[in-house]
Amino acid sequence: MRKKLIVANWKMYKTPEQTTAFFDEFLPMVASHDRDEIVVCPPFVDLPVAVEAAEGSNVAIGAQNVHWEKEGAFTGEISAGMLTAIAVTHAIIGHSERRQYFNETDDTVNRKLETALEHGLTPIVCVGEVLEEREAGLTEDVLRRQCMRAFNGISAKKAAKMAVAYEPVWAIGTGKTATPQMAADAHTVIRLEAEKAFGKEFADGLRILYGGSVKPDNASALMAEEEIDGALVGGASLDPKNFTRIVKY
Ligand code: PGA
Repeated sequence: MRKKLIVANWKMYKTPEQTTAFFDEFLPMVASHDRDEIVVCPPFVDLPVAVEAAEGSNVAIGAQNVHWEKEGAFTGEISAGMLTAIAVTHAIIGHSERRQYFNETDDTVNRKLETALEHGLTPIVCVGEVLEEREAGLTEDVLRRQCMRAFNGISAKKAAKMAVAYEPVWAIGTGKTATPQMAADAHTVIRLEAEKAFGKEFADGLRILYGGSVKPDNASALMAEEEIDGALVGGASLDPKNFTRIVKY
């Protein structure tokens, strides 16, 4: 059985003060919850207060992005070593908003994945098709390509901690959710691609999360699918009560 991973992606929301307020309310509500793993990914400037607030709790803290180089002249970027230095343990890589607005490519996703793994971070690699691709029947091709390129040159041993998030772009922030069956089908494609890259044993243990308009009222139907190993939650993770209802689906 794969333990499910429930991840909050706050995107560009909340100040450090609002981050502290979130944890003050959220942590007591999930304190005894050990069925699933919980991760919160706030903006970079909120990471120190988030780490401090969550210290000793059952909630881990992740970043929303990470650079592929160890250090250097990369204005505005944050390295994996900087994240681990402040006890951040997870990193989202290749979110569709980064691919769409910040020129993230399959190649940069691959490089970021490799660096994150080298530093002992748990990467959450995002893949997913846009609406035109789904309507043109290209979903499987897109997922295969994104996975193949992301996993390129990485060994199963090195990739051990990695999780993947399937996020159909047309479902993100739109209120449109993939049906549990659509998500499960996509996850099967991703798992097969992981098997090609890393072998069957790795693929059987790989956690594949679903993301895209996960809400308190659809979380349990999604999480009931055997192929769905957790959720990457945007909008509904900003409110501690809503996110708690998702965590406790
Ligand atoms: P959403 O975002 O839950 O607001 O659709 C999900 C994501 O982008 O990770």
